[in-house]
Amino acid sequence: MLLFVLSLNPSPLVAGVPGALVFEKVCAACHGMSGEGKAELKTPSIANEPRWYVMTQLLNFHDGKRGQDAVKDPQGAMMAGIAKTLTRAQIEAVATHVEKLPMVVPSEKEIAGADVPQGQELFYERCMECHRYNASGEMAFGSPPLVGRQGWYLLEQLRKFKNLHRGAAKGDERGAKMVQMATQFIADEQAMKNVVGYILTLNPASAKAEAAEAIFAPPPVLKR
Ligand code: HEC
Ligand code: HEC
Repeated sequence: MLLFVLSLNPSPLVAGVPGALVFEKVCAACHGMSGEGKAELKTPSIANEPRWYVMTQLLNFHDGKRGQDAVKDPQGAMMAGIAKTLTRAQIEAVATHVEKLPMVVPSEKEIAGADVPQGQELFYERCMECHRYNASGEMAFGSPPLVGRQGWYLLEQLRKFKNLHRGAAKGDERGAKMVQMATQFIADEQAMKNVVGYILTLNPASAKAEAAEAIFAPPPVLKR
């Protein structure tokens, strides 16, 4: 229904519309009302992503630097189809709104078969310099926060970078950095699982999880 309306008119929302309205009318159907993401649609949680990162990604999708190949990257292509219907003003407004949404801590806390201490080692050696020790991201490097994203989504993105299905388009300089990291320093699927398993431990615990942890405290992971 929503897509039908969009296909009739590529820019149904006039410029100057509040970002909250763009979010509610266009984004919530796939990313959820709180921006929490939906596993069944393979949409990431985007709630609380910094404005600068949402902007770069929406512009990348819009300009054909991400999601340009529907066969190799069907999810990216779906998102690109949406981004292409947005004006620059709508992209700016919705990015401001997304940043204000409270972070949604992923409900899945671990990756099956991940060796978390190994993942921690890889993270310290190869990821922390750009994504920071707590995976909160660093605007100066264009590296987004990795906390707040679901584990399956992070794994999926690492696979895409490694297989050149993301970050390999002409002019995507930031994506190219991640292609370099993934191809040179993430050996295989197991290493991806390990590092994502570790990243998930950096998420702040939800109020509920904190109460449960007080009873069933997991062994603490060594932190430098
Ligand atoms: C038809 C479904 C759909 C709609 C509508 C949609 N998205 Fe997406 N979006 C996706 C999918 C699927 C992905 C994951 C792409 C991938 O796996 O690379 C995505 C990815 C993203 C990303 C990248 C996140 C990251 O961490 O890199 C951002 C940002 C985003 N969407 C923002 C939005 C905004 C803002 C709107 C509303 C204007 C919106 N999306 C509407 C399906 C959708
Ligand atoms: C040289 C800096 C740098 C290093 C080192 C680095 N990254 Fe990144 N990473 C980036 C940048 C820049 C982006 C954003 C790419 C874009 O704009 O599309 C990114 C994006 C990502 C994403 C996609 C997040 C999303 O929301 O879609 C993941 C996952 C990721 N990095 C994981 C890692 C892991 C794991 C490591 C260590 C093995 C690592 N990165 C090392 C710079 C870096």
